[in-house]
Amino acid sequence: MTAPLKHSADVTVDVALGDRAYDIVIGRDVLASLGARIAALRPGVRTAIVTDRTVAKHWLEPTEASLAAAGVPTARIVVEEGEGSKSYAGLSQVSEALIAARIERNDLVIALGGGVVGDLAGFAAAILRRGVDFVQVPTSLLAQVDSSVGGKTGINSPQGKNLIGSFHQPVLVIADTSVLDTLSPRQFRAGYAEVAKYGILGDEAFFAWLETNHADIFAGGAAREHAIATSCRAKAGVVSRDERETGERALLNLGHTFGHALEAATGFSDRLFHGEGVSVGMVLAAQFSAGLGMISPDDAARIERHLAAVGLPTRLQDIAGFAQEGLADADALLALMAQDKKVKRGRLTFILLEAVGRAVISNNVEPSLVRDFLQAKLKA
Ligand code: GLY
Repeated sequence: MTAPLKHSADVTVDVALGDRAYDIVIGRDVLASLGARIAALRPGVRTAIVTDRTVAKHWLEPTEASLAAAGVPTARIVVEEGEGSKSYAGLSQVSEALIAARIERNDLVIALGGGVVGDLAGFAAAILRRGVDFVQVPTSLLAQVDSSVGGKTGINSPQGKNLIGSFHQPVLVIADTSVLDTLSPRQFRAGYAEVAKYGILGDEAFFAWLETNHADIFAGGAAREHAIATSCRAKAGVVSRDERETGERALLNLGHTFGHALEAATGFSDRLFHGEGVSVGMVLAAQFSAGLGMISPDDAARIERHLAAVGLPTRLQDIAGFAQEGLADADALLALMAQDKKVKRGRLTFILLEAVGRAVISNNVEPSLVRDFLQAKLKA
């Protein structure tokens, strides 16, 4: 697989879900086409844009301008930035604002932002008037390659992440890769963990291509669009075969059982971004798999080497404030894993690795093995 030499034309990836199929449109400056695409998809529609303060500063006006140019009326709903908005309070704010903006059954909600905005606005759309359609305009790398595609929407409960939610597919995803230029390097890197995930779980050739081309992806070269399109194709394929996560879709949770526990242990704070938790989680999953005699130690080391090469954390000790209570305690981490959605009747579900590019679902992992493994890692 070689990178295209120059920025290619827009790429459209189809999410094949029958009468709920939709397009993901990927490319530099595709945001400008949002209004015309919505006008063509839903003539006469009214819209409301849900976004957060930081994204609004950069991208609300261009989004509104695109809608205005196509004669699509819109309202704006701006929430606070950060995971705190993915809450009952955030849902209430957005729902009431959508009702006040007179968004009706045939209208459209537009989620303009990263994963928090997409999950929150998508869930508000799912339950407003028993279901209103929505469009995802993801503005972070993580949202472009993962959370905006596939219809998982929801908010957090005080008792755990994403525990209140629904499957509600968007009708269109517009992934403008030039929007990523305003992300901080740390946010971009965190999103890159989800890009690497597609290679690690199911596509060794893509992983090898990332090992060679990651610098161009970070620099905003043509490799960036190729990486995003490849990731979206992988996700679209999985979602179209297993929309409700009764099987294969669980593979996308590679690194997430460890990762969510680490995020919870750091209070879902800036100490550890979601993608950073996934990075450490994927390395732990690889090493745990190697300990079970699955993936070779060399392949597990290869995964860690690549994630470290792009500057992602790969070890528990890399996490800010590692020595603080909760993070350096194997039993506390195990207790956090037990609260995760990936638990069924006391047995932990893990995504394990047989090789780079070959992940498997294990529904029956013995918790004491995980505790022993974490204890060894904490001493390493
Ligand atoms: N982020 C995992 C999924 O959408 O299934």
